[in-house]
Amino acid sequence: MDQATHLRKLVESESKSIYKLKRDGTVGSNPGANEPKVIAVSSGKGGVGKTNAVVNLAIACQRMGKRVLIFDADLGLANIDIIFGLNPKYNIENIISGEKDLSQVIVHGPEGVDVIPASSGVQELTQLTEGQKINLLNEFDMLNCMYDVLLIDTGAGVSSNVIYFNLAAEERMVVATPEPTSVTDAYALIKILFFQYGVKNFHLLLNMVKDENEAKSVYGNFSKVVARFMGGISIEYAGFIPHDTLLRDSVARRKPVMCAYPEAASSDSFKVVAGYLMNRQNNRRNDGNIKFFWKRLMAGAINVDNRIGN
Ligand SMILES: Nc1ncnc2c1ncn2[C@@H]1O[C@H](COP(=O)(O)OP(=O)(O)O)[C@@H](O)[C@H]1O
Ligand SMILES: [Mg+2]
Repeated sequence: MDQATHLRKLVESESKSIYKLKRDGTVGSNPGANEPKVIAVSSGKGGVGKTNAVVNLAIACQRMGKRVLIFDADLGLANIDIIFGLNPKYNIENIISGEKDLSQVIVHGPEGVDVIPASSGVQELTQLTEGQKINLLNEFDMLNCMYDVLLIDTGAGVSSNVIYFNLAAEERMVVATPEPTSVTDAYALIKILFFQYGVKNFHLLLNMVKDENEAKSVYGNFSKVVARFMGGISIEYAGFIPHDTLLRDSVARRKPVMCAYPEAASSDSFKVVAGYLMNRQNNRRNDGNIKFFWKRLMAGAINVDNRIGN
């Protein structure tokens, strides 16, 4: 047995006993609870409202009694911290290097929502040594008993980063606006995930719409085209967020609209979408939790890089 295999076995048995402790209720605040849901939020095109969707859905879920962690994985335009008015000191790079542990890196946002800040270090996930991966997985295993939901702001487009976060997550929500370019780019993202990676389940959130009719009509056309060219795919309607000047205003105030203007039309819609995401009955994968998410992320990353030639 080489050193890496030995170490892995050691850590596996160790984390099983930690996990058992948590399940027994000795550690963690919610013993026996369901595994956390891991949801990746992405879009074909930037500027369609992903980050606002993530922060406001996080607040809405937290108000429903869920414990929410956001992972800011948008390496191009990371701005969860901006909308939350946070100034994070550390990021995931400090965990990889072993300087800090997760508890020192996670920052606390409004209403108890926690955030793992972004960094270009996420790309280093593809180049970790076996020992670093084990350390990281062990750290992330702890999160399973601390949170009910992990929301990931993946960024836009079809870069390897966006693809591998989508592959690793249990569920995927694509955000689009009724603008033709946004819809076309959402289609391109889904097409790659379907044809190249066999991903079949998506939720579509329509943002900046006039009203629900517009959202339903865009969704109707979109799902028809997708069904015609991608057999066996499921695109579920996750709901809509109206175009709302109060949301724009809240961004300028570095606050989620749910906090700045709880009575705003967009705040109401975020509540409905959060209810949809939390209450829908789906067949949960038994490997849907946070640790498996990270495991898949680290295992799949190199593969994805090769396949899409990045
Ligand atoms: N529902 C909405 N109504 C009005 N403006 C919106 C709405 N959603 C987003 N915006 C505007 O679009 C900008 C970009 O949103 P953001 O969430 O940062 O997009 P992304 O993360 O997809 O790049 C916001 O700063 C805000 O001004
Ligand atoms: Mg963003």
